[in-house]
Amino acid sequence: MIKVALYDAKSYDVPSFEHYGKQHDITLKFLETKLNEDTVELAKGSDAVCVFVNDTVDAAVIDKLYEYGVKQIALRCAGYNNVDVRAAFGKVHVSHVPAYSPYSVAEHAMALLMTSVRRIHKAYNRTRDYNFSLNGLTGFDLFGKTVGVIGTGKIGRIFAGIAKGFGMHVIAYDAYPAADSGIEYVSLEELLERSDIISLHCPLTDETRHMIGRKAIDRMKKGVVIVNTSRGALIDTEALLDGIIARKIGAACLDVYEEEADVFFEDRSGHILNDNLLARLISMPNVIVTSHQAFLTEEALNNIAETTISNIMSYYEKDGICDNELCYRCGHIDSCRKKRKERCF
Ligand code: NAI
Repeated sequence: MIKVALYDAKSYDVPSFEHYGKQHDITLKFLETKLNEDTVELAKGSDAVCVFVNDTVDAAVIDKLYEYGVKQIALRCAGYNNVDVRAAFGKVHVSHVPAYSPYSVAEHAMALLMTSVRRIHKAYNRTRDYNFSLNGLTGFDLFGKTVGVIGTGKIGRIFAGIAKGFGMHVIAYDAYPAADSGIEYVSLEELLERSDIISLHCPLTDETRHMIGRKAIDRMKKGVVIVNTSRGALIDTEALLDGIIARKIGAACLDVYEEEADVFFEDRSGHILNDNLLARLISMPNVIVTSHQAFLTEEALNNIAETTISNIMSYYEKDGICDNELCYRCGHIDSCRKKRKERCF
């Protein structure tokens, strides 16, 4: 029997994980708390921990997991910026779910954009109050607008395809442009200068942290709409707020926020929000915030559970090789062992 402690469990995680767990010899312990130094002890006796985007998997937590004999950290998400993969190397195997439904995130990005530019969020509230006035609801056509896509991986490319379907002109920036993709790649500077809408779809790394900061915002067109469904810290939130107050940024659609870990995913209605920056952003008429919900479709939840359970099982099967294992050498031409069809360590 394989024992898995699933941290930060929500009601919508349980059915799919129980379903796929039962198909293997896996017992799941659903823990409402997030993983951090204070809660890592709950993993004692487990073979693996299953974590999500806001669990803290730093060197101290990893050392404790190693001490308790935990063999695997199975991320049930794509991004892994919250895991110190270098600290885990040689101690605990890390896996993630690289793709579960890129459509869920790309479609949410477009839903946010359309809601914002057609003021659907305002209209919804108005008509519920029998206010049928159209004043202040003027939007703009997406057709013919230039959208700059930063990061043209799985999600970015689907978003680009949807945008093309609307008759938008798509330009893109990627540190590793996809050959023969038919995408018009430009430099980041050119993208910032030309785009009416900018949508972020690259991972959070040391290089991309605050890539949308004051300098980048200065380069943008007045009235630009920024969509972020990737990771909050890609944007310097204070610079974003200043850009909104200065009327430089026309609208912001945010599914992620750099300080989301203490706020998102929980019902905080009726409480006083201690995060002034987030409260100020939410108070803006041209800002839409969703609580990291872009992934939340039935298709995605099923795929997440199926792949996570399969990642965990790979450790015990197929010579322990897991296609979705991660380590700090991943992608390095010389040292990546996965490329040679070997285990990371
Ligand atoms: P992917 O790995 O397929 O694509 C990422 C792209 O970003 C690649 O083309 C890569 O070359 C590019 N990139 C890497 N470094 C870059 C840099 N410095 N500048 C510009 N581009 C760079 O990833 P995928 O599946 O498309 O996901 C993108 C991001 O979406 C994830 O990293 C994750 O943070 C976020 N995400 C958010 C979700 C949500 O619920 N809001 C759910 C799933 C993913």
